[in-house]
Amino acid sequence: MQIQRLKLLNFRNYERLEVEFGPTFNLVYGKNGMGKTNLIESVYVLALTKSFRGSVDKVLVMNNKELTRIEADVLQKRVNNFKLIITGEGKTAKVNNNKVAKLSDYISNIGVILFNPDDLRIIKDSPSIRRKSLNVDISLLNNNYLKYLSSYNKILKQRNAYLKTMSVNGLSSTEYLDSLTEKLVSYGVKVEQERKRILDLVNDKILSIYNSIMGVGELTIKYVSDYEGKKPIELCKNYKNGLKRDLFLGKTDMGIHKDDYVFMVDGKPLKDYGSEGQQKNAIIAYKFALISIYKDKMGEEPILILDDLFSELDYEKINNILKLIDEKVQTIITTTEIDKIDERIASKAKKFLINNGSVEEV
Ligand SMILES: Nc1ncnc2c1ncn2[C@@H]1O[C@H](COP(=O)(O)OP(=O)(O)OP(=O)(O)O)[C@@H](O)[C@H]1O
Ligand SMILES: [Mg+2]
Repeated sequence: MQIQRLKLLNFRNYERLEVEFGPTFNLVYGKNGMGKTNLIESVYVLALTKSFRGSVDKVLVMNNKELTRIEADVLQKRVNNFKLIITGEGKTAKVNNNKVAKLSDYISNIGVILFNPDDLRIIKDSPSIRRKSLNVDISLLNNNYLKYLSSYNKILKQRNAYLKTMSVNGLSSTEYLDSLTEKLVSYGVKVEQERKRILDLVNDKILSIYNSIMGVGELTIKYVSDYEGKKPIELCKNYKNGLKRDLFLGKTDMGIHKDDYVFMVDGKPLKDYGSEGQQKNAIIAYKFALISIYKDKMGEEPILILDDLFSELDYEKINNILKLIDEKVQTIITTTEIDKIDERIASKAKKFLINNGSVEEV
C-alpha cells in the first residue's frame, strides 16, 4: 500500500498543501515546531479518523478556520481516493467520492503503522493506555473487533447502572442482571480471543526483531485477562460469585475492560527494569511485528510512519532499525537530524524540507 498524492486544507499549520510521496523511503526533515509531525499526523488521521495525539478533533483544524480536509490517493489493489473532512460538529469520510455511512466501517481501509515518541507511554503508563493502543492495532486487522468492543462497553454500562439500582433499591432477583452478564461474556470472549490471538502472533515475531536491534534480551509480551482460558459458563459463574463485590462497588469489577499486557525482557517487566533505549526499541520491535502480521493477514504492506525515531537512540541502534525496513514498505520518517540517516536509505529517499507549514521537495 502506498500513499501517493496528499492534499491538505487548513490542517494544523498547513493552509494548503499538496505533496507526492515516493514509493519507498520518504524523509521529512526540518527544525523543531515546523510541522513535521503535523504532516504525518494528517496521514494517520485520514486512515484512522482520530489523531494519535489523543486530543479533541478541533485542534486539527487550523486556528480561526471552520474545517479541515485531508485527501489522498492511495495505491492499493488499485488507486483509491480517500477524503476526510473535520468540522467543529463532526467528521465525514468519502471513498472515491462516495460518502461512507459509518466511520467504523471506514477505519480498516488504509493500513498505517506509526511510531511516535509518545508511544513509550504504552510501556510506562496505565493499562488503559495499553488497551487503547491495542484496540487501534487490532481494528486495522479486523473490522469486527471494534463492533464487539463497543457492544461489550454498551452492555457493561447497562450492567453497572443496574448494579447501582439493585444496591439502592435492595433488589434481590438477579434475572435481568444474569441476562446482561451472559451478553457481556459473549462479547467479552470475542474481544479476549482476538487480543490473545494478535499478541500470540506478535510474540512469534518480536523476539528476533528485538534481537536484531538490541543484540541481547529476550522480549515477550504477557497478556493478562480475567477471561483468559475460561469458557463462558465458567465466567458467568465467576460473575455470580463476585456479585457481592460488584454490588458493593456499584460496578463490574471483572472483565476485559481490565485487561492488560506487560512487556517483559528476560522475564522482568520492562516498565520497572528497562532503560529508555530498551523501552523504545521494544515498542519499535512491536510495531515491526505488526507490519508483518498486517502483511500476512491483508496481503499487502501497510504504510510505516516513524516520527522522531532518532531522539535518544545511539547511532548503532538507529541503523539496526533502519536495516529492518523492507523496501517494499512505503516509509515516512521525520527527523531534525537528516545526517543521521544511513546512506542506503538516504540515497533512495524522497526528501521533504519542512519550513513553517510549507514543504519543499529537495
Ligand atoms: N490548529 C493549529 N493551527 C495552526 N497551527 C498549529 C495548530 N496546531 C499546531 N500548530 C502549530 O504547529 C507547530 C508544531 O508542529 P509539529 O508538531 O508538526 O512540529 P515538528 O516539526 O514535528 O517539531 P518537533 O521537531 O519539535 O517535533 C507549532 O508551531 C504549532 O503552533
Ligand atoms: Mg514532531
